[in-house]
Amino acid sequence: MDIKSLIREISDFPKKGVAYKDITPLLMNPNAMNQVVELLLEKLPHRNIDKVVGIESRGFFFGTLLAQKLNAGFIPVRKPGKLPYKTHTETYELEYGIDSLEIHEDAIEKGEKILLHDDVLATGGTAAATSRLIEKCGGEIVQCNFLVELEFLNGMDRLRRFNNFSLIKYS
Ligand code: PRP
Ligand code: MG
Repeated sequence: MDIKSLIREISDFPKKGVAYKDITPLLMNPNAMNQVVELLLEKLPHRNIDKVVGIESRGFFFGTLLAQKLNAGFIPVRKPGKLPYKTHTETYELEYGIDSLEIHEDAIEKGEKILLHDDVLATGGTAAATSRLIEKCGGEIVQCNFLVELEFLNGMDRLRRFNNFSLIKYS
């Protein structure tokens, strides 16, 4: 199945000049969803993973499926003010201004093997901030994986320390 054909490009969303990668057609296709999960699993260096960290919100879709297949726990990294218990926070730069992400302080035990997952790697700010949250908790990142990578934004440069994989690339 051609996974890329199920990703729809929307011009000038959310603002002019951006070609938004809309994965909702893919989410409506259970065979394609399964295939994505299998292809991502194949590229892991090993399957000894304790927890999958998915980034709000679109990182939740495949993050939970990956966690189930790996028999691992799932950890949501969320936007500020959404998590109810004690949190660690990391800020990151946007084109204009800053934003932050949070994780529950007790989500990861020291030395646990972690898979970081998000749907799209663009500038890498989101994933890099999440990697710092994981490390603050004492987790060891086995891989950062993404459904889509926008190569022209060079997000991988910010994740050089890690093993990384993206399934679909736009150059
Ligand atoms: C999008 C995407 C990634 C992030 C990538 O999320 O889902 O999480 O941007 O951008 P970066 O690599 O430049 O940091 P968004 O913040 O739009 O929120 P959403 O997942 O809730 O739609
Ligand atoms: Mg996102």
